[in-house]
Amino acid sequence: MPPLFTWEFASDPYPAYAWLREHAPVRKTTLPSGVEAWLVTRYADARRVLADPRLSKNPLRHSAAAHARGRVGIPGERSADLMTHLLNIDPPDHTRLRRLVSAAFTPRRAAEFTPRVQELTDQLIDAFAERGSADLIHEFAFPLPLYAICDMLGVPPEDQDDFRDWAGMMIRHGGGPRGGVARSVKKIRDYLADLIHRKRENLGDDLISGLIRASDHGEHLTENEAAAMCFVLLFAGFETTINLIGNGTLALLRNPDERARLQAALTSGDTALLDTGVEELLRYDGPVELATWRFATAPMTIDGQHIAEGDPVLVVLAAADRDPRRFPDPDRLDLSRRDNQHLGYGHGIHYCVGAPLARIEARTAIGTLLTRLPDLRLDADPDELRWRGGLIMRGLRTLPVTFTPHGGPAS
Ligand code: HEM
Repeated sequence: MPPLFTWEFASDPYPAYAWLREHAPVRKTTLPSGVEAWLVTRYADARRVLADPRLSKNPLRHSAAAHARGRVGIPGERSADLMTHLLNIDPPDHTRLRRLVSAAFTPRRAAEFTPRVQELTDQLIDAFAERGSADLIHEFAFPLPLYAICDMLGVPPEDQDDFRDWAGMMIRHGGGPRGGVARSVKKIRDYLADLIHRKRENLGDDLISGLIRASDHGEHLTENEAAAMCFVLLFAGFETTINLIGNGTLALLRNPDERARLQAALTSGDTALLDTGVEELLRYDGPVELATWRFATAPMTIDGQHIAEGDPVLVVLAAADRDPRRFPDPDRLDLSRRDNQHLGYGHGIHYCVGAPLARIEARTAIGTLLTRLPDLRLDADPDELRWRGGLIMRGLRTLPVTFTPHGGPAS
């Protein structure tokens, strides 16, 4: 079996995933943290597992899982209330909270936000357009989703740079329970509690006010639930979107024919290829490599493998989305791919709440980059690019590019 979790693996995990998919599609593996977990790599199994109610998302529900919790990124008791969010809970609590967030965070709210995303995108590009070079992760992919979700939630502009620092800290250190991250989580918790309190006194048309107003059979979110919901919206939508812009732009730079086809379509005002293209970029090298933790609530069998109660199960979205049983010629980037039901946003009851916003951000970011900087070039050997460590996400540390400098803000 090819080695997993090495430097080479981080730079290109797909050959190892192809091996697993063919030879050991449900395989118990020791993760870098020392925790043993099952990796599920085939598309059909992945979809079934993601929708299987016997798999719990609540790491505190089982003793074996609780034992592992220190290592699966669930911080200690002090911030436990913030971690009681959608991705860590099961029905019926999940059903109730999901209804409440869906009432407030509608596709329509995301669509109405498009002009603001365009404005942020142009401002960020303006800041480096005259220089002729940039690091697209730090200067573009990182700030865009952060400012976008802060704006949407209603975090006042003067506080957004604090978020930038806290979020940077959480990303750099992988969201685990240690030192600076725990401090950042505590600061975010205190800040959110205070902000929610202020919004309650003075409701506006932002998403936090929408969450406070939302009701399900007359029930509203508690203070803790509202804070945990804001936290998951901020952080589930942040690193993922950075990675979609980063991985997606890199995939286009490495596939010049597809990039040229997209650029030609955009020049002629045709955006259909951008829509299918963003979906294909999610399938081809998506932001979430492994879906978040699941735990067997009873002994069960997945594709012939016996899974014991309490065992952690990780669905490898990146492997499933390149399964040749589901996607013809899966290692080829085809921006007009049809029947592209990828698992990049997950599947089942935990399917991404933020998908409509993520699509708008990715379309705007990638479409505007290619239009405003048409000769964008990678300024590094692609094999030398550094990828962030960490288990769940797949994303670049830096993406250095050059282009012909061009003056002035977008017209
Ligand atoms: C859930 C991917 C952007 C909020 C998920 C899941 C995936 C995912 C795979 C399911 C995880 C699992 O089942 O273990 C992505 C990708 C994004 C993105 C690839 C960007 C390209 C966003 C944005 C937001 C967001 C922008 C919010 C602003 C959430 C939330 C959940 C979630 C709250 C939990 C839903 C639940 O448990 O019911 N996302 N996401 N995501 N995502 Fe996203």
